[in-house]
Amino acid sequence: LKAYYEKRAPQYEEIYSRLERRSDLAELESALLHLVAGKHVLELACGTGFWTRRIATVAGSLLATDLSKDLALSAASSCASGTVRWVTMDAFDPVVSHETTVIVAGFLFSHIPTEQVRNVLEKWSESAPDGTLLVLFDNLYVAGSNTPIATADAAGNTYQLRELPDGSSHLILKNFVDARSLEAQLGTVADRISVRGFEYYWLASCHLHRR
Ligand SMILES: C[S@@+](CC[C@H](N)C(=O)[O-])C[C@H]1O[C@@H](n2cnc3c(N)ncnc32)[C@H](O)[C@@H]1O
Repeated sequence: LKAYYEKRAPQYEEIYSRLERRSDLAELESALLHLVAGKHVLELACGTGFWTRRIATVAGSLLATDLSKDLALSAASSCASGTVRWVTMDAFDPVVSHETTVIVAGFLFSHIPTEQVRNVLEKWSESAPDGTLLVLFDNLYVAGSNTPIATADAAGNTYQLRELPDGSSHLILKNFVDARSLEAQLGTVADRISVRGFEYYWLASCHLHRR
């Protein structure tokens, strides 16, 4: 996944310029910024920094992280304010400082194998200060707009065949979750759960608690 996104980095943000998704993205951005305003934010899997740059405009502080050093560095460097820190971090085993009040992960949840979701959520709740706000957002499947599902496995994971401009193709795990199962999954580690559905995206927020 890391290698695929590193290779895709030069074109990655084209996904955010699709006309039909523009008003949805504006709503998603506004809801996200409302949740992180003034907060101490840890962003997991920041990628090229599309959301990092936006969060940086309102957050009290921001640590941008990704498994890819190149992506985390370029995300932080792309922010106008020089106050965004960055570090290489595995989102599935994060080191969360005691100052963190919000953990944000955009378009990461869909890449977690379904059989690992519970473990990942437990890792997040165990490593974060009690009551930390967790904000996740990701794609809803919209036929004709999303890359079609190429295949599925016995655990229920779905995969897309994605091509890059260099002609390489990559089978990428990409799961599309419905609101009810998302709420049930989040409910194992969090309370005050809110799941908002847009046309192309969903946005979830909840407060992590220790079990
Ligand atoms: C779909 S991109 C999302 C990027 C960004 N959050 C956004 O919404 O534009 C997924 C990102 O996850 C990163 N990634 C993959 N596995 C990871 C891991 N175990 N820990 C942290 N980041 C990871 C990839 O390098 C890539 O930047």
